Amino acid sequence: MEKEQQAKNILAKYNQGHIIKILDKLNEEKKEELIDQIIEMDFEQIIDLYNKYKQDELLVSNKDIKNIKYIDKYGINESEREEYKRIGEKYIKEGKYAVVTMAGGQGTRLGHTGPKGTFKIDTVNGDKYLFEIIVETLKKAEKEYGVVIPWYIMTSKENNAQTVEFLKEKNYFSYPEDKIKIFMQNEIPMISDDGKLIINEKYRIKEASDGNGGIYKSMKENGILDDMESKNIEWIFIGGVDNILLKMVDPILVGATVKENNLVASKSVVKAYPEEKAGVFCKINNRPKVIEYSEMSKEMCEQRDENGELLYGEMNILSHMYNIKALYTLADKKMPYHKAHKKSDYMDENLKMIKVETPNAFKFEAFIFDGFEEFNEMTILRVKREEEFAPIKNKTGKDSPETAIELYNKMSI
Ligand code: UD1
Repeated sequence: MEKEQQAKNILAKYNQGHIIKILDKLNEEKKEELIDQIIEMDFEQIIDLYNKYKQDELLVSNKDIKNIKYIDKYGINESEREEYKRIGEKYIKEGKYAVVTMAGGQGTRLGHTGPKGTFKIDTVNGDKYLFEIIVETLKKAEKEYGVVIPWYIMTSKENNAQTVEFLKEKNYFSYPEDKIKIFMQNEIPMISDDGKLIINEKYRIKEASDGNGGIYKSMKENGILDDMESKNIEWIFIGGVDNILLKMVDPILVGATVKENNLVASKSVVKAYPEEKAGVFCKINNRPKVIEYSEMSKEMCEQRDENGELLYGEMNILSHMYNIKALYTLADKKMPYHKAHKKSDYMDENLKMIKVETPNAFKFEAFIFDGFEEFNEMTILRVKREEEFAPIKNKTGKDSPETAIELYNKMSI
């Protein structure tokens, strides 16, 4: 009873009276679950976010934005490339390199139910799951450098159990289990346009993953950074789960970053067409940054320089690398959030689920690349799209299994 009153006080304080009405109609078991969720939830944070961002423009304005300096992997001379390679290989061979896969997102756009890494594609090398392709890349690196690279996987509350079960069932695609660690990212509630938290069909407040920018904090909270440090790992690659040509172990990236004396690096490819759905690198207020495609105006996407090239054409392929020191710094940084307007069915005060047809709620997500502005400079290595970028995002058309498999097959022949 005491807990119930505590929960109701919280709800009243934050203007969530509709949930009090729902609570009163639930059976004891469901009621208790919801009360526990309410007591544990950070209301201050979500209400703050709502108040701060509800009026915000989604698009960034382009003042103070400059383009960013990059190293072209194939534009530099052979001896320079060899030097980067030599430097990078040393770290990798000494076991000072690790790989993290961000696999917390759901394959909603792809229409796949289940963790994206469990999606299967049909390639010239046979049927393969996305996780399997990642393991194959790691095994290739093992052959090349003579070390088994530690592999960390970030999941979300939504897909952790399924991911763990899947990988176990597949015997980790024969990658040594003791080299793999799985950790979970956090969630943040969704909130309706009028500032109400949403109750879902399970009689719980609807929460969603806090975006791939939640990774820094989660790595620290889950002891991943300490684990890496104890293994003397210095350079950590962080990439997505859905690019089947992702080159996770590239000594040239390590070498170039060491040589440039930076703590953070990322790879880019040239944007293929102005409206391509990808973030682009730039500098804002003289700090490295990525502007996400969802926040760029059409005009900005189409701007060209004097040579006719897209002004913001250095595209983010989610192929990032950090020194461990940078990750410790970022773990304590308060990441900004971005909002997305989404459709969300909800339970009304009579416990009836209401289906919605138009976006009615905000989802807040932190973006991993917002960490870059913590540093004055970062290394950007421009690579060849056909060698390193074959994303699977949509069910059909652009960036679909079909287009990605074609690129993958070309690289495999
Ligand atoms: C992402 C980049 C975009 C880039 C594009 C290239 C971000 C925010 N956006 O866009 O700039 O041009 O890739 O393909 O990085 N994930 C989580 N947890 C989450 C959300 C996502 O782990 O809460 C993971 C996903 O599993 C996936 C990756 O992050 O591996 C990218 O997520 P997604 O939200 O699909 O970003 P994109 O729209 O593809």
